[in-house]
Amino acid sequence: MLDRTGSHAKWWQNTTVYQIYPRSFADSDGDGIGDLRGIISRLDYLEALGIGVVWLSPIFRSPMDDNGYDISDYQVIAPEFGTLEDFDTLVREAKARGIGIILDLVVNHTSDAHPWFLDARSSRTSRYRDFYVWRPPAPDGGCPTQLQSVFGGSAWTLDEAGEEYYLHQFSKRQPDLNWENPALRAEIYRMMNWWLDRGIAGFRMDVIDLIGKQVDRGITADGPQLHRLIQEMNRETFGRRDVLTVGEAWSATPSSALLYSGRDRNELSMVFQFEHVSQQWDEMRGKWKPKPFDLVALKRVLNRWQTALADDGWNSLFWGNHDLPRAVSQYGDDKGFRVESAKMLATVLHLMKGTPFVYQGEEIGMTNVPFTSIEQFRDIETLNMHRLHLEAGLASADFIRGANANGRDNARTPMQWSAAPHGGFTTGTPWIEANANHATINVEASLADETSIWSHYRKLVALRKSSPVVVLGRYRSYLAEHKSCLVYSRTLGAQRIIVVANFSPMLTTVDLPEEIRTEGESLISNYDPVLRLGKAISLKPFEAFAVLENKGRTV
Ligand code: GLC
Repeated sequence: MLDRTGSHAKWWQNTTVYQIYPRSFADSDGDGIGDLRGIISRLDYLEALGIGVVWLSPIFRSPMDDNGYDISDYQVIAPEFGTLEDFDTLVREAKARGIGIILDLVVNHTSDAHPWFLDARSSRTSRYRDFYVWRPPAPDGGCPTQLQSVFGGSAWTLDEAGEEYYLHQFSKRQPDLNWENPALRAEIYRMMNWWLDRGIAGFRMDVIDLIGKQVDRGITADGPQLHRLIQEMNRETFGRRDVLTVGEAWSATPSSALLYSGRDRNELSMVFQFEHVSQQWDEMRGKWKPKPFDLVALKRVLNRWQTALADDGWNSLFWGNHDLPRAVSQYGDDKGFRVESAKMLATVLHLMKGTPFVYQGEEIGMTNVPFTSIEQFRDIETLNMHRLHLEAGLASADFIRGANANGRDNARTPMQWSAAPHGGFTTGTPWIEANANHATINVEASLADETSIWSHYRKLVALRKSSPVVVLGRYRSYLAEHKSCLVYSRTLGAQRIIVVANFSPMLTTVDLPEEIRTEGESLISNYDPVLRLGKAISLKPFEAFAVLENKGRTV
């Protein structure tokens, strides 16, 4: 497959990534926590879906304050997940099925139980002291700056010795690493190479936009040295290897994305940004106060990113992950039109330009979980924020309404394999309860049904592998101001795909602009196949389809 510059597309441009949250995917030993052997037992399932890469959320030793995003040893597998031998087996077995494993690289911070931090806090002269960010108290003895932690409260905690504060942009058990220290960087690069040598296919980089922080200047994300640091990391570790690297960057803009992922930048393969996600949040209270869904705003964001990265850089495409609500609940209709809207969302996303990411369970249309009591939640962010909201005088029920819409536990309930107890995830007691709808929404039922959401995902994944126009075609959007329809085309040489989607539960009639009135073959659809696009078309609730026009064909 050749791109516009005549060079071959990279392998990670025509593949689809599947994200596994190991804790919730498959439990092989009945302790209620998913594990590596559980994942190995489901590799045939992933191969059948056709995905080429698995991103594993962190599997390293950890006190699990933030479910593994607080690492206490980068080179040991958390015992609840298995052993290094299990990991090697996973890499080998996955490779045999054409699947690469990418690891979650959490290097903005460690756990407070990491030996570096234990040593660093033991004395101000520890050789690891400067691996972290310490500051003396403000003149009044309070926090050095006003910086707030993402999980609520100050980003500074006074250490036990009472002399200095350490920085933590997340929980106080996740002290920030000091990337200005070359010795720290050398340790991280050594560790990354150790994993690369074990045969992994790359890294997902947790909050990578924060490593260039300069707290004294109030800078956290997107610091002035950030790209220099990523280039150094590239040079010292994965740069000479043909791997996939994806940087999580909440602060990314279309122009900074070109820095992270530009062809000649020697940084990352692609950037994982959230501008489309935060359209759903309140300006003041953020995700805890969801806004009504606004398709026009969503399209504006999607179009901007598709257009800005048309010639250089690379997008990752996703609706959900382990920090976000379930896609069908957020952008579709998880009650009346769950199947139709889940397929519609997949169609829209997977035919855009970029590498699609499927979050576990999305491919069977798993939904948000309707927890009613704070005792059912497990996520540290949700629990902290609940406490802070209550302290600020808000009613628990109001907060829970927000958490039900946007809380991170929505994505973390057990994978629903079957109608068995706990969705077949475990024979024990799961660490977080399964969604009761596993009785009907589960893998077993999906595989038995040719018209399932799963079958639709499988088709989309296959299309990307076989169609250069899906991978490389130029994107163009239409009807930007239409309140319920999303329409775009992708063009490569003589081929053009036109994608039409209805985001509403109503029958909708739409006038198509002249340049996309055409006919061709049906590439995919969630109702009847569509071959012809006339002036006015009428769309069923959440209908979505793609027509492939082939001007080069001679009859
Ligand atoms: C990222 C992870 C999230 C984690 C945070 C701190 O945003 O996706 O789960 O809590 O970083 O590591």
